[in-house]
Amino acid sequence: MAGVPLLDLKAQYAPLREAIAEAVERVIEAQRFILGPEVETFEHDVARYAGVRHAVGCASGTDALILALAALDIGPGDEVLTTPFSFFSTASCAYKVGARPRFADIDAGTFNVDPERLEAAVGPRTRALLPVHLFGQSAAMDAVLEIGERRRLPVIEDAAQALGATYGSERSGATRHCGAMGRIGCFSFFPSKNLGGFGDGGMMVTSDDALAERLRELRVHGGRQMYHHREVGWNSRLDALQAAVLRIKLPHLDAWSARRAENALRYDRLLGESGLLEGGRVRLPVRDARCGHIFNQYTLRVERRDELKRHLDQAAIGNSVYYPVALHLQECFRELGYRQGDFPVAERACREVIALPVYAELEPAQQDQVVAALVEFHRKG
Ligand SMILES: Cc1ncc(COP(=O)(O)O)c(C=O)c1O
Repeated sequence: MAGVPLLDLKAQYAPLREAIAEAVERVIEAQRFILGPEVETFEHDVARYAGVRHAVGCASGTDALILALAALDIGPGDEVLTTPFSFFSTASCAYKVGARPRFADIDAGTFNVDPERLEAAVGPRTRALLPVHLFGQSAAMDAVLEIGERRRLPVIEDAAQALGATYGSERSGATRHCGAMGRIGCFSFFPSKNLGGFGDGGMMVTSDDALAERLRELRVHGGRQMYHHREVGWNSRLDALQAAVLRIKLPHLDAWSARRAENALRYDRLLGESGLLEGGRVRLPVRDARCGHIFNQYTLRVERRDELKRHLDQAAIGNSVYYPVALHLQECFRELGYRQGDFPVAERACREVIALPVYAELEPAQQDQVVAALVEFHRKG
């Protein structure tokens, strides 16, 4: 029997093939490849979608985080407070502006930073809070934003995995998009994201006019006018070809994310019926009721994770471990002085998590196959 891929981008592409070909052709005919009208239109589309005043395209989600920190004047001597359980860029961005990351442990259920621990970790050099909406579920933003206000710290949202995810605030009663709640939100269009390009791409969003202007300058060497530089910036721009592709995909994003959420619910049911949840052998992703989760990843916690991973690999069932090593234990951050045991909840997550295929085009029969492989692993003991 054929296996099940972790992600099937060809299935997403097939029905869009003609529309994308036309859009790409339009860019080629125009011969305007960097920024330009195609990117501007896409920026407007994303700003409207996310409910913010400005969107500024750049070369990747990693660059979006770096540019966001730079635009807030975060640099040498400063610390950026974030989660140790995330993709590398969440912490490396601080280094890239000459600052340092500082970590606070996560909530065991949602995998997102625990606000109480976040507040306890605020130090004299802390200059920003950088929550991540991991796997497509918003961090506990009421509490994070409240800490930011009280401590006068800007909140930068790492929404790389969460374009389209929402958070229903109990403070204001409003439901807002991830990325639109802090001073700046950062998105990634890496191909495996819910809205993925045909290569790297990223975007920063903000409703602060001056900040948007600064971000627009920083992405083109620190000046609006060619060859006039107000400061030293970067070369980090979104390609018109990427924007053209992403413009075709954006109107489908909510439907794709809804399918992912349906698939996640179906896994919950199938795993419940399988008996694997008894005794905690398998634990389902925890949903925060305030969140519109877009399931960029469907991540279980399991016992004997590495053995299970080998079993799934052999059965050609797509899977991945996001993330095997917590950020505070990365070799390159050794000088920060963190040790094993400093963030036990994140470290435990690194030992237990495994992500299963949850992409929009996944068929029920494929999900049955994935769950059958999990059941077989446990039957063998
Ligand atoms: C949480 C998180 N932050 C930042 C990034 C960086 O995005 P990119 O790969 O577009 O540089 C990613 C993407 O992998 C991510 O998942």
